Amino acid sequence: MALKSDQKMSGIKGSWLCRLVVVVTLACVISMSIMFYSFSPSNCPLPFPKPKQNCAKSNIPLSDKAEEKPILLLWTWPENYRFAFNDCKKFYNIDNCQLTDDRALYNDADNVIVYHRNIEWDLSNLPPSPRPPFQRWLWLHLESPTNTKRIPGLENLFNLTLSYRQDADIPVRMRLMTRKKPNEDFIIPKKDKLVCWIVSNDDPSTGVETRKIFYRELSKYIKVTLFGKAYSGFLSYDDYYPTLASCKFYLAFENSIHKDYITEKINGPLAAGTVPVVLGPPRRNYENFVPAESFIHVNDFPDAKSLAEYLLHLDKDEDAYRKYFNWRKHLTPSPHLILQNQEFILAICTACDYTARHRQYKEAHDLYEWYFN
Ligand SMILES: *[C@@H]1O[C@H](CO)[C@@H](O)[C@H](O)[C@H]1NC(C)=O
Repeated sequence: MALKSDQKMSGIKGSWLCRLVVVVTLACVISMSIMFYSFSPSNCPLPFPKPKQNCAKSNIPLSDKAEEKPILLLWTWPENYRFAFNDCKKFYNIDNCQLTDDRALYNDADNVIVYHRNIEWDLSNLPPSPRPPFQRWLWLHLESPTNTKRIPGLENLFNLTLSYRQDADIPVRMRLMTRKKPNEDFIIPKKDKLVCWIVSNDDPSTGVETRKIFYRELSKYIKVTLFGKAYSGFLSYDDYYPTLASCKFYLAFENSIHKDYITEKINGPLAAGTVPVVLGPPRRNYENFVPAESFIHVNDFPDAKSLAEYLLHLDKDEDAYRKYFNWRKHLTPSPHLILQNQEFILAICTACDYTARHRQYKEAHDLYEWYFN
C-alpha cells in the first residue's frame, strides 16, 4: 500500500510531502499523548487545519463514529405522542441519523422538525433565530388542506416539507413492496361480514360530509357493520387487523378529498386481506400507489345503489371476488402501526433517513402557495 502511493508521488515534491506527513503524524501522536495525560483526550490538538483532519480521522475511536450521524432534533412531540427513538431501527431498519428531543442540542442540530399543528399563532414557540447556518428546518404536517390552519409567518421559513403529498421534499407513505418470487400461498381470510367501516372521526368541520352522505345512501342497499368511536364504541387495537380481515369489503373513505391524500385507511384492508372500497381522489391517483385491480372506487359507479349491487354480486361470485387478490403474488403489503402514540413514527423515521442521505441546501418558498393550490 505504502509503495503504491509513494509511486504516485514524484521527485523532490514527493519526498518533501512524504516527510511532512511523517512529521505531522508524529506531532499528532506526541501531542495526543500529552493531551491524554493532561486534560482532553478527544481532540487532535494540531493547529494546522489539514493535518488536524487527517489526525482526527485516524484517531477517532469506532464508538465516536455514531456522533457523525446528522442530528435530527424533534422540536416538539406531535400531538404529544411520544415513542422511543430506536423504534426507527426496530420497525423500519432506519438508523442513520441521531434523533433527539433535547433542545440543548439545538445549536448542533443539522435538522429540526417542526410540527405544524403545535405552532402557536404568534409563532412564539418556534426554534430560536438566527438558526445555525448549516441547519435545515423541516415542516411536518400530515393533514389535508381542508384540515390545515394557515398560520401567518411560515411562508418562507422552512427548508424541507414532510407530508403525505408526493411532491413534498420528503413524502411519507406506506408502500407495497415488489417481490420477484411469486407468493402462491396467500389464502383469503375467513369472512363473516360483508361491508365494514371503522369511523373514529365524525366531526363535520373536518370535511367528512361527502363520505357521510355516501355512506347513508349506500347503507340503504347493503348492510354495513360499523365500528369505532363515532358509532358502536372503540375497537381495541388488538382487534383492528382481525376485524378488517373478517369483512369482505372495507370502506376506506377519506375525511376530505385531495390529491395524494390516500391514508392508512386503504393500507389496513390491503394488509389484512380485505378489498377496500375507496372514496377520495380519482382512481388514477390511487393507481399511483396501489394496483388498479386491488380496490373498488366509488366513482366507478354512477351511484351508491349500483355500487351496492356490484358488491352483492361479488358476494355471490367467488371467482370474481378472488380476482381482487391476484396482485398479492408479486406485491407485499405491510401492516402500518396502529397505536395512537405511533401515528408519527413513520414520518419522523422517513425524515431521519432522508436528511441523513440528502444534505443539500434547500429553501421551501411560499409554503402555503404550494400546499393550498
Ligand atoms: C433554510 O431555509 C432558510 C429560509 O428559507 C434559509 O434562509 C436558509 O439559508 C436555509 N438553510 C439551509 C441550510 O438550507
